[in-house]
Amino acid sequence: MRKNLMPNIDWVGAVDWNVRDFHSYNTDRGATYNAYLIRDTANTLIDTVKGPFFESYYRQVADLADPASIQYLIVNHAEPDHSSALPQAVKAFPNAKIVTNKKCRDTVQKYFGGADWNWQEVKTGDSISIGSRTLQFIETPMVHWPDSMFTYVPEDELLFSMDAFGQHVASAARFDDEIDLDIIMDEAKTYYANIVVPHSKAVKRTLDAAAGLPIKMIAPSHGVIWRKYLDSILGAYGKWCTGTVRAKIAVFYDSMWESTGKIAEAITQGADLDGVATVMMHVRHNSLTRIATEFLDTAAFAFGSSTLNNLMMPAASAALVYLRGMNVQNRTGFAFGSYGWGAKGGADQVEEYMKAAGWTLNRPVLKCSYRPTQQILDEAAEAGRELARIALEVAEKQG
Ligand code: FEO
Repeated sequence: MRKNLMPNIDWVGAVDWNVRDFHSYNTDRGATYNAYLIRDTANTLIDTVKGPFFESYYRQVADLADPASIQYLIVNHAEPDHSSALPQAVKAFPNAKIVTNKKCRDTVQKYFGGADWNWQEVKTGDSISIGSRTLQFIETPMVHWPDSMFTYVPEDELLFSMDAFGQHVASAARFDDEIDLDIIMDEAKTYYANIVVPHSKAVKRTLDAAAGLPIKMIAPSHGVIWRKYLDSILGAYGKWCTGTVRAKIAVFYDSMWESTGKIAEAITQGADLDGVATVMMHVRHNSLTRIATEFLDTAAFAFGSSTLNNLMMPAASAALVYLRGMNVQNRTGFAFGSYGWGAKGGADQVEEYMKAAGWTLNRPVLKCSYRPTQQILDEAAEAGRELARIALEVAEKQG
């Protein structure tokens, strides 16, 4: 595994090949917790790793530098996937100052204590000379937590970007040109949809603030390092953070006896117009992670549920809560579904939830009693065509 980013700058992180659940994010390809060692007059570590991986992190650092020579340990983010090895690192690198911003220090202390650690607080605009290089700090609140920050090395045009531009993928490859670009762009999109999207306004502010920096390499805290395909990832973030969608519709549903499923199929078939991408997902057979990823660039959608005890199906409820948490509002759609002996049911509840989420309803709820008639299925197909037309219009307006 090649780990060298630039002369005297090395990856010393951890590959978590088998993690499949990252606080409910399905990491089908595993994950990495990236950390970096800069050897200069003052040897410096950029971040630590998740606690159980401390030993391998320490061994890699010790192979390259005397642990007693580490003078700075930069903490760019307090979330435990990056900071839970800190208590061990503080002991292992006894001469290191722990450098971070005030919010990050406060959060780390709430997790791990450390009031007596050798802290150095920094804020945006501050810098530290470590010899031939300078570390510049840029606070990036809400990318991904209030405490997050970037560290930039102007001499190398190298940005340590924390969670931003990350991907959950376990690999022996360390760089974007050593792995299939389609895979890492898909994982970057999945990461954005499941971790970053609620904070898109903050991402936009951060991208604007970083726009003036010459950047040759972006070293995130997860996944591969961007050095060849910077335009691809920066272009994608530019779209995702401004809510850019595609001419695409999605049909999400849960079905008890396939009545709601038949309506979902009719909507999907109706939406099959030239230039429109369609996706149909049974929410009980797809992970929330994939559902959110499809939703990220979907212009219009239908959401269906059968009725269970007068309410929507539990998986439908979970998916709606998860999608609402993404905090994307420029979406249009409608609710659909079947009911039995009660006139109100799951579909009505879905519609109420869609309204509460701030999504635009383009038509009333589409419902059937027990089994959809041909008339209902025809109406569903027309509703699908209308969704597709909306998606085309939205995409055209975006240019
Ligand atoms: Fe990878 Fe927000 O932690």
